[in-house]
Amino acid sequence: MTSVAVVGSQWGDEGKGKVVDLLTEGADLVVRFQGGNNAGHTLVVGSETYALHLVPSGILHQGKRALVGNGVVVDPDVLIEEMDALAARGVAITPENFTVSSSAHVIMPYHRLLDSARESPLPSSSPGGRLVIGTTGRGIGPCYEDKASRQGLRMGDLLLPDRFRERARTAIMEKNALFTGLYGLPETRLSDLEALRERWAARLAPFIGDARKILWDALEEGRNVLFEGAQGSQLDIDHGTYPYVTSSTTLSGGICGGSGASPGTLDRVLGLVKAYTTRVGEGPFPTEVFGTHGDRLREAGREYGTTTGRPRRCGHLDAVAVRTAVALSGITSLAVTKLDVLRGLGPLKIAESYLLDGQTIRHMPPDIHDLALCEPVYREYGGFEEDISGARSLADLPSGARKYLDGLEDLCGAPLGLVSVGPERGETVLLEKFF
Ligand code: GDP
Ligand code: IMO
Ligand code: MG
Repeated sequence: MTSVAVVGSQWGDEGKGKVVDLLTEGADLVVRFQGGNNAGHTLVVGSETYALHLVPSGILHQGKRALVGNGVVVDPDVLIEEMDALAARGVAITPENFTVSSSAHVIMPYHRLLDSARESPLPSSSPGGRLVIGTTGRGIGPCYEDKASRQGLRMGDLLLPDRFRERARTAIMEKNALFTGLYGLPETRLSDLEALRERWAARLAPFIGDARKILWDALEEGRNVLFEGAQGSQLDIDHGTYPYVTSSTTLSGGICGGSGASPGTLDRVLGLVKAYTTRVGEGPFPTEVFGTHGDRLREAGREYGTTTGRPRRCGHLDAVAVRTAVALSGITSLAVTKLDVLRGLGPLKIAESYLLDGQTIRHMPPDIHDLALCEPVYREYGGFEEDISGARSLADLPSGARKYLDGLEDLCGAPLGLVSVGPERGETVLLEKFF
């Protein structure tokens, strides 16, 4: 029995979907434990590309079971759409292979509305001075807020009409005051929410259950479990670049609260590292590169968001950020992705430390006030010109690529577990046996 976690060690979009799909081969159960459809995980299987937002990336493998844990926030419309789209492409989704925790919170239409209202300009009559984060607009933050303030609706509530009505009535009281007052938007009507509940329950009831019991049983039976993280370490609500973060715990520690696994469960934590850095939305990004090199990275890596289509900001690899993720998530090995994208883009740079008030620091400062004062200190590498997509062992890589990987491993402070050299399952150098 082995349990492996896959977590992002940067600002998300490190290639978690590809790696989870690849590792699912040896797993029995794949579990999402946080985030929601702000995630966009891309899987390429032969000529087919799948972009998944809520259903765990392990679903493409027959005979495996997928769970959406209690820590995930679920937009039922998005879930239904994703399940239908997968079914239309021949991926079987049944109550036997897919369960959503009855304790997972529901993203309601008013959460999406609040998310976008906060990110849009206020009506001219209102006082200004707001924070724009560049969220995905999916209602993630407002849903987690309601969870924490105990006004949330959970997936299990969809099956209890009376309770749903009472909780929804309470939840919309404050929202409607905000909508009609501050934001100049129409009220949410309880009857509309009840109609949604009925439709959602009719489709999803067979899939809603006690996901943690399924997880506990699997662990007891000695099954192999893969935990699929969303977002990345620097977007963590506590340890990321607050307030430019998402609203959940994106670290391996989030697995316990978000799935019901106990702290001793994990055998390995695989930290995903894109061979350079990207970020979507606002917030600090010390190694960001503007101009030609940034544009070349964006085009070569097709760095446009899977969820929103927004161009991703691009920059050099930041070993300070990854090293911080190694400490936060107990990363036991690194999965380096998109190394192939760096072909012909040398010389390449890796930030090995920051200078803050004349002092060398090797971990991200906890506050963005200090981060803004940090100057990255770079180490330079020659790079490589060869096509590396056919490499299946380190020996297949040209020396320029090897030197860059050696530098990355040394500076980030964890050994390499795999190197991805293309989007497809097989385009991978596997250095560790995970299951
Ligand atoms: P995730 O959110 O961490 O799952 O990552 P995304 O799916 O949002 O973004 C990663 C993108 O890079 C996707 O389009 C993947 O198909 C692609 N990708 C993953 N690994 C590689 C790789 O090694 N090389 C290249 N060229 N593309 C990759
Ligand atoms: P995956 O799982 C990259 C970013 C948003 C925004 C901030 C808050 O595909 O790696 P939110 O909608 O969560 O309130 O937005 O977090 N963000 C992501 N960036 N990849 C993701 O997921 C992200 N999920 C959220 O762009 O800056
Ligand atoms: Mg993504």
